[in-house]
Amino acid sequence: ANHPKLNKTVRVAVTGAAGNIGYALLFRLASGAVFGPNTPVQLQLLERDNEQSKAALQGVCMELFDCAFPLLTKVVTTSDPRVAFDGANAAFLIGSMPRGAGMDRSDLLLANGPIFQEQGRALDEAADRNVKVLVVGNPCNTNAYIAYHHAPNLDPKCFSAMMRLDANRAVAQLAEKTQKPVCSIQGVRVWGNHSNSMYPDITAATIAGTAATELVDEAWYNDYFLPTVATRGGAIIKARGKSSAASAASAAIDHMRDWWNGSDGRVVTMAVPSDGSYGIPEGIVCGMPVICTGNGNYEIVKDIEFTAAGRARLDKTVAELVKESETVAPLIAE
Ligand code: LMR
Repeated sequence: ANHPKLNKTVRVAVTGAAGNIGYALLFRLASGAVFGPNTPVQLQLLERDNEQSKAALQGVCMELFDCAFPLLTKVVTTSDPRVAFDGANAAFLIGSMPRGAGMDRSDLLLANGPIFQEQGRALDEAADRNVKVLVVGNPCNTNAYIAYHHAPNLDPKCFSAMMRLDANRAVAQLAEKTQKPVCSIQGVRVWGNHSNSMYPDITAATIAGTAATELVDEAWYNDYFLPTVATRGGAIIKARGKSSAASAASAAIDHMRDWWNGSDGRVVTMAVPSDGSYGIPEGIVCGMPVICTGNGNYEIVKDIEFTAAGRARLDKTVAELVKESETVAPLIAE
């Protein structure tokens, strides 16, 4: 028979697997959207240890089963993070208390911190040494910061947080405004925190080869684009009564696919532990432009010049991340 040669099975851990984002993510993971059409996937799903969560997860597993995905070799379900992360090559940390209407992301900081302490420790103990960890649960930058501090035997570069949703939102707004296809837009980057303080930066963006700043005016950028992108999460919560799920899952797929496979020389946005570039304090998990170079490696794009306004925006969002790191300092010390 002419079966293609299959790669080694990838073990993929997903926390909060029966939640809204999990429901939008798992089927795409199992279909090959991240690891490709020749890579079998084993899903290792974590949910809380209560009847409702266990029943919901069982239902999701029945649906995964019914899809008869050719690449899905096995599904493990557990409420023990060490089991979920056992030998994991990739991990999507989604499970956390989500933001409800009227809540600020900072309200979540101490509520969700202990989850990421425990999961950092479990990853340290059980995961593959080259695991790629993507933190989606909010406040994702600081949750990733907490997690990697509890995984001293893993390279901090194994950890990242999701700002791809913000970058995708920025691209979508530019495409709509200029009536150009999404695929013609390159070089959008989003700096800082996945919060209202983020800095979506179009100074290096091009649209079908033309500088974006020549196609949209400054007033639109300042008065519409920036606040729309930065507060989109809240607008979705207001409209749906729940936080974004399908778009968050889609961005998680984009993030992990590019990280795993390489971004083909394109600049993408990931929140990663700072190496001190641009005066961003070392270790803070900050949204930055990176190029994924394949095999799970990435490089932070260097030598970017900021306008005065851009620099002020970067400083503001970085200051917020520093403040968050101070708030969770007791969780780091434990
Ligand atoms: C989003 O950006 O949609 C999510 O992070 C949800 C939120 O709290 O904003």
